[in-house]
Amino acid sequence: MSKQMSHLDNIPSTPGKFKMDKSPYIHNRLRWHSSLAKLTFWSFMFLGLILIFFFRSPSSNPLPQDPSRRSLRTYNWGGPAWEKRVRSSARIRSRNGISVLVTGAAGFVGTHVSAALKRRGDGVLGLDNFNDYYDPSLKRARQALLERSGVFIVEGDINDSALLRKLFEVVAFTHVMHLAAQAGVRYAMENPGSYVHSNIAGFVNLLEVCKSANPQPAIVWASSSSVYGLNTKVPFSERDRTDQPASLYAATKKAGEEIAHTYNHIYGLSLTGLRFFTVYGPWGRPDMAYFFFTRDILKGKSISIFEAANHGTVARDFTYIDDIVKGCLAALDTAEKSTGSGGKKKGPAQLRVFNLGNTSPVPVSDLVSILERLLKVNAKRNIMKLPRNGDVQFTHANISLAQRELGYKPSTDLQTGLKKFVRWYLSYYSGGKKAAG
Ligand SMILES: NC(=O)c1ccc[n+]([C@@H]2O[C@H](COP(=O)([O-])OP(=O)(O)OC[C@H]3O[C@@H](n4cnc5c(N)ncnc54)[C@H](O)[C@@H]3O)[C@@H](O)[C@H]2O)c1
Repeated sequence: MSKQMSHLDNIPSTPGKFKMDKSPYIHNRLRWHSSLAKLTFWSFMFLGLILIFFFRSPSSNPLPQDPSRRSLRTYNWGGPAWEKRVRSSARIRSRNGISVLVTGAAGFVGTHVSAALKRRGDGVLGLDNFNDYYDPSLKRARQALLERSGVFIVEGDINDSALLRKLFEVVAFTHVMHLAAQAGVRYAMENPGSYVHSNIAGFVNLLEVCKSANPQPAIVWASSSSVYGLNTKVPFSERDRTDQPASLYAATKKAGEEIAHTYNHIYGLSLTGLRFFTVYGPWGRPDMAYFFFTRDILKGKSISIFEAANHGTVARDFTYIDDIVKGCLAALDTAEKSTGSGGKKKGPAQLRVFNLGNTSPVPVSDLVSILERLLKVNAKRNIMKLPRNGDVQFTHANISLAQRELGYKPSTDLQTGLKKFVRWYLSYYSGGKKAAG
């Protein structure tokens, strides 16, 4: 800055007073001008060459692919045969049954919830974009499982308003179980856009369609225990603060809770948010520790076990999938009707948030010991410091509210639940037919 100032100070304010011929300053200036012209010329030439290269090269793509766009591809939907399948899947087959649109139905929780609803005679229609955040063949296998029990999963994105509107045109859903989301805390550093796309934009789009539907459905949706973020008071209660998220994932779930409040307030949508605590079980998610620990222990690979500062224990309130499913069904069954219609609120509507956990946190090192016993293989443990990339040190749910209002009572301990998971894992990936990750 000071250098520039001194240079500017050297230029006289009245150029006419220059002595043109003798001044060495002028001489230098002319030389400088000609080199500037040369520089400009060559710059243009260079720029021109780059442009020619860009436009002539057939496959050149100067920008890196945005991974969040992968779920924006177009899907085939519509037509009489498609509508027939939608209707048949969503048909209620029991007295007092409900008809539920389950988003994220090819996901871990979505598959279990859809199957349970179908078993009791409710109408169920799935929706999923089958993105490749983790092995899509697992999602396809879950889809085949649901197909056999009569649940059709429409392939599409929750951001597709036309598709959602069409679904509500074909079926007057009484409920929406919204489980579609970009899950996982660490992946947010790699692909933040996918969290905004599914957890914020997608959620808003879904609520927009629900608010305009006539009748409006009641909505139960998955928030997360991660909203408790850096809280240290345990167990976590719904009344505790949730303004210190430790990951973008957590921040988008917290945003979802605020968005839910808005749509409840303005449009009279009945909304229930469920804060799940580390759900595990058969057909689980390959990006979760219990799943990839199993895979790596069996492969003889070392596994990283995190510990907090001063050898602090990292623990999770692991919750078995069947308990979570019971909580989801109870939330649907106790959800009151939305009060608006066609986008207009007629009166106050229900707005709830519940913890769905197990209330007994287990150190991650104990989880590994249980897996060692079940798999009959010793793990190669690699103890590492908990990185600051989204994970929190522990989670622990206070579930008294869900107990009182939903009759929620988890009944599967980690040992029993993991036994069921390992049995499924070994049969699913048996004989090298499929390779996990
Ligand atoms: N599993 C857990 O431990 C846990 C804990 C807390 C919260 N949750 C929440 O519960 C819900 C279900 O989790 P999960 O473990 O089954 O995850 P999952 O990834 O197995 O299931 C989510 C499904 O949603 C689909 N999806 C994602 N974005 C979509 C979009 N834009 N349009 C349509 N489909 C889309 C995915 O393809 C996937 O099949 C999620 O909202 C998740 O954030 C899960």
